[in-house]
Amino acid sequence: MKQLFDFFTVDLSPDETSLVILDQTRLPGETVYLTLREEESIWDAIRTLKVRGAPAIGVAAGYGICVLAQQYETGRKEDLLKEVRRIRDYLGSSRPTAVNLFWALDRMTEKAEECVKALPEDGPEAVRKIKECLKEEARKIHKEDRATCEAIGRHCLTLLEPGMGILTHCNAGALATAGIGTALAPLYLGQEQGYGFKVYADETRPLLQGARLTAWELNKAGVDVTLICDNMACSVMKSGKIRAVITGADRIAANGDSANKIGTSGVAVLAKEFGIPMYICAPLSTVDLNTPAGADIQIEERPGEEIIHKWYERPMAPEDIKTYNPAFDVTDAEYITAIITEKGVARPPFRESLREMQESE
Ligand code: MRU
Repeated sequence: MKQLFDFFTVDLSPDETSLVILDQTRLPGETVYLTLREEESIWDAIRTLKVRGAPAIGVAAGYGICVLAQQYETGRKEDLLKEVRRIRDYLGSSRPTAVNLFWALDRMTEKAEECVKALPEDGPEAVRKIKECLKEEARKIHKEDRATCEAIGRHCLTLLEPGMGILTHCNAGALATAGIGTALAPLYLGQEQGYGFKVYADETRPLLQGARLTAWELNKAGVDVTLICDNMACSVMKSGKIRAVITGADRIAANGDSANKIGTSGVAVLAKEFGIPMYICAPLSTVDLNTPAGADIQIEERPGEEIIHKWYERPMAPEDIKTYNPAFDVTDAEYITAIITEKGVARPPFRESLREMQESE
């Protein structure tokens, strides 16, 4: 597909020493890139959602390990491996729910382990080769994500018809990945083929990923997008304007229960009530067969300040009010019509269809 955007979400710097990210907390007002070299700044960028969205976090984590390992000075490969494991644990403590973070960190660590074993010699040359290997692996994760997004988009588009009204929640678009997104990928491909979708974007309280990010990127690409507040989804569905709901996911359990941005499960329950299909678009790296069901997924809890103050000039609630701010919720598998990955369309029962997909890799 032709180049759609004049921005990128995450990359390795041209001199290969740093992680470069688009600071998503500054959008939609400002397009600012951050060049990160220190582990604290990489951890903080993930923690504070400067880089966000499960696949983009995975790509950032891959480059994160890569740039931090390059800086580590040692002549012994076992020391470097120890350092890679330490960085994995440290970056893994930034956010708990998106499994892509751990998937990418583990993949990089396993690559380092494999290299240490494969290289018979020790010393500075062996260390240099391992660092080179890590760079290649991080680039591979990045490149694969682009291809994965397009494949997800192609498979999901087969479920959609021209002119459809489509509701999405949070941001599972280009900003959440290194490619054209997951949930938004079919919309971009459809746009290219003249499908004329009418997209409704939930604003997604409290961090407004729908308003600040989804509305921004769809609008930029010329897709017909209408922003609504979260509490309007029911009436928009009831009015017949929505014929499909498409969202991303942060972790999909073996039985198909899917964690995604807080509010998604409510949207799914409504969709079922109104007979609207609920599609989850996510890469296989989001499918976590080691997690049996949604109840086993750790849900990130974030500071109440995000509800009271975050994007406002002055507090919108008493500053000392009690708050509860879970960042994600779990949509039970019974509310999900299909899960679309780069391998195709998985239908219920998901325990079987997801396993088959993973095994066909
Ligand atoms: O807290 P965020 O903004 O990282 O949450 C993002 C989401 O919930 C996305 O829907 C999910 O990561 C899928 S992105 C392709």
